[in-house]
Amino acid sequence: MAEPAILVTGATGYIASHTCVCLLERGWKVIGIDNLSNSSLKVIDRIKQITQRSIDFYRIDIRNQSALTALLEQHRVDAVIHFAGLKAVGESVAKPLDYFDNNISGTVTLLRLLQQHGIRKLVFSSSATVYGEPASVPVTEAAPTSATNAYGLSKLIAEQMLQDLAQADASWRIATLRYFNPVGAHESGLIGEHPRDTPNNLMPYIAQVAIGRRPYLQLFGDDYPTEDGSGVRDYIHVMDLARGHLAALDRLSAYQGCFTVNLGTGHGVSVLEAVAAFESVSGRIIPVRRTARRAGDVASCYAAVHRANELLGWHAEHNLEKMCADHWRWQWSNPDGY
Ligand code: NAD
Ligand code: WQD
Repeated sequence: MAEPAILVTGATGYIASHTCVCLLERGWKVIGIDNLSNSSLKVIDRIKQITQRSIDFYRIDIRNQSALTALLEQHRVDAVIHFAGLKAVGESVAKPLDYFDNNISGTVTLLRLLQQHGIRKLVFSSSATVYGEPASVPVTEAAPTSATNAYGLSKLIAEQMLQDLAQADASWRIATLRYFNPVGAHESGLIGEHPRDTPNNLMPYIAQVAIGRRPYLQLFGDDYPTEDGSGVRDYIHVMDLARGHLAALDRLSAYQGCFTVNLGTGHGVSVLEAVAAFESVSGRIIPVRRTARRAGDVASCYAAVHRANELLGWHAEHNLEKMCADHWRWQWSNPDGY
């Protein structure tokens, strides 16, 4: 029997590249597409170095209907993981239309073509950002959702579109995965996160301070109602997250409709704890300057993980030390990224 084939959108991106490694190792044929707006072609070679297998890669924008149609006519596709999209919260406030176009229109174009080609199994990258300011932690999937920026709104709308689609046509099988804070890298140090500009997120910023590219970390707020006053988040190793996608695909084989699952560790870690862990594994000092809170930040956000455990039989395995160690290995081996 032919190996199962999967279409991965945004394939050369951070989370997708790690997921492609797991997919190839599990025997999937991977057809990857990306417009390379936030990633490098070098990722393809690195994935091959790790797995000794190749992904079938095409430089295609998900909004390009004719290119996508040609691709779907050329390849049999059994399932799709849809990672492609823009993800910078601040940029989304400045350029909301870019976010609506890429993340919403792009998703509509993709879904329409999947529908036309009889492809009905989809895993979608959503985000804990849809919880807005959580009223309590840990956050369950039933918590109210809201959006405070165009990025969050684009994820909320995409989630709603997927639910409506599954309701309208019972043959769809859709997993919406709400990621918490992905960090770390493949333990080979060959693939990892490569922010093109100044990092927005904590772990890549700390890593750039550790390698000497930036003088200090700005601590955005030290007066939150948390144990040490700094913000608390649920950092999750990107390889755990990648495995979560395979668990979701497995589950979809025996599931009709649309389900939504948090992917996090279930543990909150403060900014100061993350800095201390990174200093300990890297042996480098991370100077910290306390500054005002960042607009839109919440004090504490971490996942309730029962549903992922029960529905997918999945839980995160790697601890904070491993996340920092693998992130540091990637940063240290690739000081300028790809
Ligand atoms: P990333 O930027 O590394 O990956 C996204 C990829 O999509 C990039 O390679 C980019 O070039 C590509 N892309 C963007 N627009 C495209 C388009 N129109 N057509 C084709 N390709 C396009 O980001 P990531 O961190 O790997 O995120 C992957 C997904 O997970 C995104 O949907 C993101 O919103 C979501 N997510 C990320 C985080 C996080 O903190 N990293 C958290 C929650 C959810
Ligand atoms: C974590 C903590 C900051 C940088 C964002 C998006 C969310 C999702 C994940 C995509 C907070 C503090 C950070 C710095 C700091 N992405 N911090 N100095 O804000 O939880 O979530 O990424 O879906 O949508 O909003 O993650 O890594 O930016 O911040 O003190 O230079 O680190 O205040 O407490 P966040 P983050």
